[in-house]
Amino acid sequence: MTTRIVPSVLPADFSRLGEEVRLLEKAGVDRIQWDVMDGRFVPNLTMGPDVIASVRPLVTLPFEAHLMVADPDRLLPRWLDAGCGMVIVHAEAAGHLHRTLGDIRERGGSAGVALNPATPPSAVEHVLDLVDLVLVMTVNPGFGGQRYLPSMAAKIRRVRELVDATGRDIEVEVDGGISPDTIGSASAAGARTFCAGSALFADRDAIGERVAELRRLAAEARR
Ligand code: DX5
Repeated sequence: MTTRIVPSVLPADFSRLGEEVRLLEKAGVDRIQWDVMDGRFVPNLTMGPDVIASVRPLVTLPFEAHLMVADPDRLLPRWLDAGCGMVIVHAEAAGHLHRTLGDIRERGGSAGVALNPATPPSAVEHVLDLVDLVLVMTVNPGFGGQRYLPSMAAKIRRVRELVDATGRDIEVEVDGGISPDTIGSASAAGARTFCAGSALFADRDAIGERVAELRRLAAEARR
């Protein structure tokens, strides 16, 4: 099963975002995650679709929009139009999650559903036929640089069981506090896609080595 390293651009230098996404592509990452925050669903405000669209032509990497927003239906088409092939909505925010996920797919996107730490895996049990990815938050959303929540290991294991039972290749992604010290726990629990921000941007001169190190540690934890 493929290990994917997906950087969050939350810690990026937004005064030179184009250079930052090019740096990530050169570092050998698999996808870029855009942490979209609206100041309502989470106590922080980040970028809109026009920012994503502005850097879309600079790299060929796939983009995923992680919508930490109170009403994910509102701008849904804009994220896809901006070049995000994957749109991830929070189970806690979508008033009609089944319909929203179906809408993403009908518009040609890949659909992901995210779970905050307190939300049980059962929240996605009846939409697994509509998703390509389940994102297990390993921090409370809103900020980068937070501590990984080890208590999420049991939840990752349960999501892995639910996904495997479908027989479909649904990605299990984790997001929050992923570093060389924590990726092993998430990988051993069943995650195969790892979103990391601070751990990758800590040393821009060695970002490629850090990507390779995370990939290696994730694989070693599965042996
Ligand atoms: C939380 C964000 C962060 C970010 C990664 O809302 O989603 O988890 O992507 O941040 P780090 O890797 O710095 O914890």
